[in-house]
Amino acid sequence: MDSQLQQEVARLSKRSEWLASFTIDGQTIGAGFNHDRDVRPGQFFSLVPKPRRILELGSCQGGGTFQLAQRPGVTEVVAIEGRDYNIEKARFAQRLLGLTNVTFIEANLETFDFKSLGRFDAVYCVGLLYHLPKPWELLTRLNDVSDVIYLNTHYCRASCASRKADAYEGANWYEMGFEDPLSGLSNWSFWPTLKSLTHMLADAGFLSEIIETDSNGLGQCPHGTTILARQTARVSDEERDCLWLETQAILAALPPDHGSKLRGRLATRLVQTLAELRRASRRIWARAPQRLATTEAMDAAPLPGPLVGTIVTNVEQKIPTMNRDRTPATAPTVVD
Ligand SMILES: C[S@@+](CC[C@H](N)C(=O)[O-])C[C@H]1O[C@@H](n2cnc3c(N)ncnc32)[C@H](O)[C@@H]1O
Repeated sequence: MDSQLQQEVARLSKRSEWLASFTIDGQTIGAGFNHDRDVRPGQFFSLVPKPRRILELGSCQGGGTFQLAQRPGVTEVVAIEGRDYNIEKARFAQRLLGLTNVTFIEANLETFDFKSLGRFDAVYCVGLLYHLPKPWELLTRLNDVSDVIYLNTHYCRASCASRKADAYEGANWYEMGFEDPLSGLSNWSFWPTLKSLTHMLADAGFLSEIIETDSNGLGQCPHGTTILARQTARVSDEERDCLWLETQAILAALPPDHGSKLRGRLATRLVQTLAELRRASRRIWARAPQRLATTEAMDAAPLPGPLVGTIVTNVEQKIPTMNRDRTPATAPTVVD
């Protein structure tokens, strides 16, 4: 590494901790997790057919961003991040990587208005939603931006739910302040239960498909899920019905302290069978991604309800959780 580069790395290290490392020309720049090993971008591309323009939320130091931007066929990634010192590192790595299809924007996602950015083929929202005090507000604003959200987030166990926020069950969690590079920008965040999260998405106009939960019995908070959320109008009636059933089955199959009092082999078998059906209808969707129901049909269609659904496995062990050990905020300082 030449001395100018070394000086810049040292300056950035003084400013804040590196959380991402990059392999550039055989050299490691930065420190922490190398997103070449992050399973989420690969899963995103397997679920979302050929996205060209992607919006990333909470991009931190660009580790995930560059995984998206380097994928053949991706023309642009717009990445929004609330901490200037994270963006500074990300831009530094971007220059070294020579990537011209990435734009970092410094903004607070609690309030940011996306409209000026135009539309995106998909939103990549990982490790961000559980840092917000009013996650439903962000989801609602995303309706202006894209038909598809790939969401990877934590949820609150039903047994830990201690309050209702805007009709959603869940609990507050403390955030660690601006100097913590991974935290939210407010003092606390609200984590919905998995069931409430699917309601939240439905209320925002998105039909959820639960791709994964960590319900295999890790027995610890926080819990995580991956959801593919699509605008309801983009989903065929048949698939909507399947998703509804499948989501019910997934929620029922969660361990009692995660979500539902009902669980058991029958529910799990049902989830698997429904997942097979769903995969068949996904193939149809992938072949005709532009199909859009008319507004009239949308209005006439019954609300999908709270729901979603697919494979119940544990990805959280494979995904480097950016969330540090945190305790529920038992005494919320702010109540909406
Ligand atoms: C836990 S990290 C996740 C990083 C990355 N998305 C990942 O999962 O690998 C959360 C990131 O979101 C950013 N963030 C949290 N709340 C935000 C907000 N309200 N507006 C913008 N960025 C925010 C943090 O600064 C941090 O970089």
